[in-house]
Amino acid sequence: MSSLSGKRILLGISGGIAAYKTPELVRRLRDAGATVRVVMTHAATTFITPLTLQATSGNPVHTELLDHTAEAGMGHIELSRWPDAVLIAPATANRMARLAVGLADDLLSTLCLALAEGVPLCLAPAMNHRMWSAPATMHNRDTLLARGVHLFGPTNGPQACGEVGLGRMEEPQHLVEDLARLFVRPWLAGQSLLITAGPTREALDPVRFLSNRSSGKMGYALAAAAAAMGAQVTLVTGPTSLPTPPNVRRIDVVSAQEMLGAVLDHIRDCGIFIACAAVADYRPVVTAPHKIKKQGENTMALVLERTEDIVATVSALPQRPFVVGFAAETEQLEANALKKLHNKGLDMVVANWVGGEIGFESDDNALQIYWAGGQKILARARKSALAYTLLELIAARLNPGLHPGLTSGHIPTPAPTGATA
Ligand code: C5P
Repeated sequence: MSSLSGKRILLGISGGIAAYKTPELVRRLRDAGATVRVVMTHAATTFITPLTLQATSGNPVHTELLDHTAEAGMGHIELSRWPDAVLIAPATANRMARLAVGLADDLLSTLCLALAEGVPLCLAPAMNHRMWSAPATMHNRDTLLARGVHLFGPTNGPQACGEVGLGRMEEPQHLVEDLARLFVRPWLAGQSLLITAGPTREALDPVRFLSNRSSGKMGYALAAAAAAMGAQVTLVTGPTSLPTPPNVRRIDVVSAQEMLGAVLDHIRDCGIFIACAAVADYRPVVTAPHKIKKQGENTMALVLERTEDIVATVSALPQRPFVVGFAAETEQLEANALKKLHNKGLDMVVANWVGGEIGFESDDNALQIYWAGGQKILARARKSALAYTLLELIAARLNPGLHPGLTSGHIPTPAPTGATA
């Protein structure tokens, strides 16, 4: 369930070409469970009609500051009292300048000034890349950020003017995810989480190794989300190029063996263990002390041995935490995931397809989650958004009183006995 469920979102639309994406944005906000009211500037109505936004939001659209019919019902002060958050998308350079200065010369700028303390004001800037990087806009951006305004985007790419650069509005689905993050519940407060992420590298010699395509993005997203949800987070990570998420303790390792060591060093006192790393299943029996040279033969055989299974080791501990494993599969996703749930003694398994355009390396994923007695399918979304939903699910499994509806789901076919992972 999205944290936007039941939230009142006031969408302000200012006059940029990206306004054509706002009916889609409204639809997605409503899909996430939000109630949406729309305020448009006059310039915005030249790009898209109020009627379209009225139809998609299911509420009258407001455009006038001095409108005596509106003053009696939803005037600027009334409107400013209504929302749980305001999102201005697109936010033009002009809109940012007005907000930075504090003008109150149209309905949108006035209600932003009248907004109660603590109600988040979010902007999705959209403009030509030169307008975005102009010193005046940068100054306005900094002023707004310093005042606590949230900025979502802009992103880089082709622009309506034909140029390419930083100034595109964030895509509607991403804006919904950014907004949802503001309403995250502290469901993991008081919990301690240990998360593994990224690939491992198994050395062949001092310069070569066996590894895989894991980027670490899913594990890092989980670590970031868990910390935002109030948990103490330790991230044991294989080599990645990702920055450490805020408020996360990071331990860098290289091989599967080092990862196991770091996990066992920190597993005590940990209530939840999430094995998201793509750990090598095999390593070379011998690591050559010097760079391996070409031999006379055309082929070369590597002798490999099994690595320790970290998640299975944790599951087998006498005082084990709640254990979540991942299953990245190229075939028979559900059957393989259920085998892992069973054979590795997991409390939950999170399965995803790999090899297509999502999964490894991608910013997006789609997850199928199984536990004894239930399952949940999470449709394609950004890993950062999926991380929150998955952690809410884990929190609800640990404490069903949090959200009784969240973990109900159909009972999957039991794993065949004697199956191997
Ligand atoms: O057996 P397989 O590698 O497919 O299982 C994947 C799950 O097991 C993931 O959660 C991964 O982090 C974990 N794993 C592990 N130690 C290994 C191999 C996999 O913890 N040596």
